[in-house]
Amino acid sequence: MDKIIKIFDTTLRDGEQAPGCSMNVNEKVEFALQLERLGVDVIEAGFAVSSPKDFESVSVVSEKIKTSVVSSLARAVKGDIDKAYEATKLAVHPRIHVFIATSDLHLKHKLNMTREQVIASIAQNVAYAKTLCDDIEFSAEDASRSDREFLSLAYNTAVNAGANVINIPDTVGYATPNEMFELVSYIKENLTTNNAVEISVHCHDDLGLGTACSLAALKAGATQVECTVNGIGERAGNASLEEIVMGIHTRYDYYKATTNINTKQLYRTSKLLSTITGITVAPNKAIVGANAFAHESGIHQHGVMQERTTYEVISPEDIGIPQNKMVLGKHSGKHAFKDRIVTLGYSLGDADLEKAFHEFKILADKKKNVTDNDIEALVSHNAVEHHKAYEYISFVINSGNTITSTANVKLCVEGQIIEKVATGDGPVDACFKAINKIVKLNVNLENYTIQSVTEGVDALGEVSVKISADKKFIMGRGLSTDIIEASIKAYLNAINKTVPVLLI
Ligand code: KIV
Ligand code: ZN
Repeated sequence: MDKIIKIFDTTLRDGEQAPGCSMNVNEKVEFALQLERLGVDVIEAGFAVSSPKDFESVSVVSEKIKTSVVSSLARAVKGDIDKAYEATKLAVHPRIHVFIATSDLHLKHKLNMTREQVIASIAQNVAYAKTLCDDIEFSAEDASRSDREFLSLAYNTAVNAGANVINIPDTVGYATPNEMFELVSYIKENLTTNNAVEISVHCHDDLGLGTACSLAALKAGATQVECTVNGIGERAGNASLEEIVMGIHTRYDYYKATTNINTKQLYRTSKLLSTITGITVAPNKAIVGANAFAHESGIHQHGVMQERTTYEVISPEDIGIPQNKMVLGKHSGKHAFKDRIVTLGYSLGDADLEKAFHEFKILADKKKNVTDNDIEALVSHNAVEHHKAYEYISFVINSGNTITSTANVKLCVEGQIIEKVATGDGPVDACFKAINKIVKLNVNLENYTIQSVTEGVDALGEVSVKISADKKFIMGRGLSTDIIEASIKAYLNAINKTVPVLLI
């Protein structure tokens, strides 16, 4: 029988620690549901003790997720473990993930503890966590820079106290693939228990080796790998989920292993994360980058036309990249639209389907050819739509290179139409200033980017903005064939996230 490698996704915890990647509760739930569709075995939903928002996110994700394990991180401290337990207790499959550092560097400069104290803390806290939850993972932070004998003692102590998963992190992305292979082999050989223990790895990408180290660890016998979508995470990020999964999938001949991942959901998951965080992947990013399947040189193009595998080791269909053909037009009905949505792998409830169809009709009126990419963009934007305290109604612009731009923007606020006029440095600035007059918030625009979803003059434009309000950074996204309208929608999407709302 094939060895099954478990995929532990930590996008919502370690990934979210990346600058600019923070997500609100609704966004985390939406992303967790997509991770479940993707087929990840474990979702690390957050670090429950770290803030009330994290606690809330872990709790709501725990309630919504039915098949994946939901885990919360906790330091080897009773208060952390209690919070992790409280936040995950409604999950069908809860896990508490207890960690403490084991390298002398961390013991001396961070924990101010002796090795004996660390071992005592592991024994006490893992045993305590086990009284609350059956599924306990133990991580030795900075394992790759720890003394091996001491590290092995730490893991054996955790296993004797009840841990069923032991995780070996390369916390600062320092290890080489060979070292990671040797480390996993050493820890495995020196386990003193007869009980089945899952060995996990967790590699960061500081030297660009996160994926390579994770795959080397699997070859040495690790059976769980921790990673993030698009490789987001602290500093240079974590090992990338899509690279690890496709590495195992493509090189079955070498790894002799499989995963539970539905690879056709990989592209969509990557896109959804970019839509939520506003952080797109580099065009040359392996697997999900825009150029990952582009062939520029004539020799390569010729080769691929004769036989795809001459220059492609995976096909775009394997990871669910929509084939960008014209599929629907303005005369298409709801049945055809629903069929297309299902073929693309989405399952929308009646209300979401109605909303997406309404937006499709508006788009089809403006755009001759509605492609799969357009439909993907519509659906993923709807998925992360926040409640709308301020609803966009219309705008009028007067702009040119010899006059000052003036914008008139109409919004609906609590059922009332409010209209304001403002001038600005260009049409987008004028619109944002008119909106500022309506929302009466102290908002600063920190970043603005625009890109087209498809080709052609009638392409959908996708705008991302980053605003700061109340010392927080908030991302917003907007989609329209009109770039000013896309900008207004993105700005309002960000502003609406600043308004407190009851959970879905
Ligand atoms: O990088 C790391 O060591 C971690 C642990 C807390 C698992 O994220
Ligand atoms: Zn980490």
